[in-house]
Amino acid sequence: MKVDVLLGLQWGDEGKGKIVDVLAPQYQVVARFQGGPNAGHTLEFDGHKHVLHQIPSGIFRTDIQNIIGNGVVLDPIVFRREIEGLAKFNLDLKKNLYVSKKAALILPTHRLLDAAYESAKGESKIGSTLKGIGPTYSDKIARQGLRVGDILSARFREKYQKLVEAHRVILDFHQFDYQDLLPKAEADFFAAVEFMKEFALVESEYMVNEALERGQNILAEGAQGSLLDIDFGSYPFVTSSNTMTAGACTGLGVSPRQIGEVYGIFKAYCTRVGSGPFPTELLDETGERMRQEGREFGSTTGRPRRCGWLDLPALKYAIMINGVTQLVMMKVDVLNIFDTIRICTHYRLPDGTVTEQLPHDLCDTDVEPVYRDFGGWQQSLDAIHGFDELPAGLAAYVEFLENELKLPIRFISTGPDREALIHRETPKLVG
Ligand code: GDP
Ligand code: IMO
Ligand code: MG
Repeated sequence: MKVDVLLGLQWGDEGKGKIVDVLAPQYQVVARFQGGPNAGHTLEFDGHKHVLHQIPSGIFRTDIQNIIGNGVVLDPIVFRREIEGLAKFNLDLKKNLYVSKKAALILPTHRLLDAAYESAKGESKIGSTLKGIGPTYSDKIARQGLRVGDILSARFREKYQKLVEAHRVILDFHQFDYQDLLPKAEADFFAAVEFMKEFALVESEYMVNEALERGQNILAEGAQGSLLDIDFGSYPFVTSSNTMTAGACTGLGVSPRQIGEVYGIFKAYCTRVGSGPFPTELLDETGERMRQEGREFGSTTGRPRRCGWLDLPALKYAIMINGVTQLVMMKVDVLNIFDTIRICTHYRLPDGTVTEQLPHDLCDTDVEPVYRDFGGWQQSLDAIHGFDELPAGLAAYVEFLENELKLPIRFISTGPDREALIHRETPKLVG
């Protein structure tokens, strides 16, 4: 048995939550391997819309063990709020939710540090979600962070105070005004830590590997997207974890030999929240129509998402670094209204060279997208259930992409609901 990985191929918000929820019944375990409350994964079914931040998107399916892996940075306050938000669904969370003792703890001061660093950056700010992600991963790498397992230690308060003292020095250096904010945040934090102790805190690497030995199927759920990866994204406008397939190995404690299918999730266009390069961004009325039609406003922060046409060089790069085996194309319905639909096939560099490769620093290189235009289909996709029923314009769009990407598109998503999905029953052999 293998661990299948599902991740975003763009700048996040591709629709990962929806597809994890759709695929979850095929798995016994769903596990988040990186990121934290910066994620917002939306699930819609039976008239409910629910956004998950730290809890894996398999949680609404019965008999699935949902694991928050060691690679995650976990905020106990957000954890508590999420659990309380799920109360109305009558889920057996004490039985179906497990948290790695090795997951990193987000402290209230990590959130304050995030804000202090962002304001110090001024114009060049990352556009962080301000959930404390960067500072928490920094402390982990600096070997001074706290982990979930530490909350069980008699010395937890002492360890906490020691780290907070170090944070205060930095906050004072930045002249960040935090004294009034901290007492309430700390009270909430310690109450949430007590709340967390009622849940299953586990050695999740054993859980995952033992599940594999028992022949169970595991789905590793990625957060953010490949172009936000700390190593391969548009650095420094990235998040602070490895969002790619390799992150599932370090974030769950599984060997690369155990990785099976890799589901690459992408929108039929592109969006990005926060700052950083975005070659195909549309700053005009077309971009605004995309934003309105796709309801492109952040699930975590409510910020308007920047919108643009599909970017093939970036998508091919993401497929390459992740070893994607199956593609899922999301939000195709959003393109229903356009009479012309564009795909960026290449970049033109400042010296005139045309390339399919990403320059090593997208921030410092002005690339001009080279587009290929497709006729739109301008019709609703609601009544379509099979690939053989696709309107001609969409069929041509799909065929072009499958040939370029040398991979089958396994699902086409046509709306937010669980049911709004076109499934290719017999996989097409491509390439
Ligand atoms: P994630 O972070 O990758 O899980 O994605 P988000 O949940 O942040 O953003 C995706 C948004 O698009 C959510 O509001 C979904 O409900 C919505 N969505 C997902 N699939 C589709 C689709 O095929 N069509 C449309 N119109 N909306 C979709
Ligand atoms: P999901 O899992 C979209 C972006 C932020 C910012 C940058 C760094 O829902 O796809 P951070 O808070 O991580 O320090 O922010 O990354 N970002 C996301 N954008 N979807 C996400 O998650 C994101 N998580 C972080 O907007 O530009
Ligand atoms: Mg999201």
